[in-house]
Amino acid sequence: MKKVVLVGYMGSGKSVIASQLADKMGVTFVELDACIEKKCNLPVAAIFEKHGELYFRKLERELFVELIQDTSGDLIISTGGGTPCYYNNHELLQAEGVVSIYLKASIATLANRLKKESATRPLLANLNLDDLQEFIAKHLFDRNYYYNQATHTVIVDNKSVAQITSEIVDLLV
Ligand code: S3P
Repeated sequence: MKKVVLVGYMGSGKSVIASQLADKMGVTFVELDACIEKKCNLPVAAIFEKHGELYFRKLERELFVELIQDTSGDLIISTGGGTPCYYNNHELLQAEGVVSIYLKASIATLANRLKKESATRPLLANLNLDDLQEFIAKHLFDRNYYYNQATHTVIVDNKSVAQITSEIVDLLV
């Protein structure tokens, strides 16, 4: 039984890549944020607003452990950008039966992607364009330690979804 876990900053492409990977490998794909939303019956931004980030992080931990321990079959798990950084979740990136992949994007790539959708992301919601790049740089610096616990790192800058997916498939065989 294998769990493939994708980690990386917001905007690194975790969901899109996980879905392509699932198609290519014929394995079920789950998005951790979607599991949390389903459990709360609220979108992530509303969970942050109504219950606070700590509540979100606790649920994120609980559901991440459930997915890693799921015994029903192989699974591709797309995490949230903060998942490995709380409650020792990073240790699960190296758990038995887990192969984790850090989708590594540069600050410029991330800022370029996130400027279009920062309004829907609670951690970026109050940032103007000028502050976004600086925020990402600092945040990424803090989070790098956790992302680097992944089994493999794949650079995503200037690559197509197909290219990234096939690089990951090569790492998994
Ligand atoms: C978060 C990233 C989001 C979501 C939540 C917190 C983070 O997921 O889990 O808004 O802490 O980086 P995506 O990385 O899928 O945007």
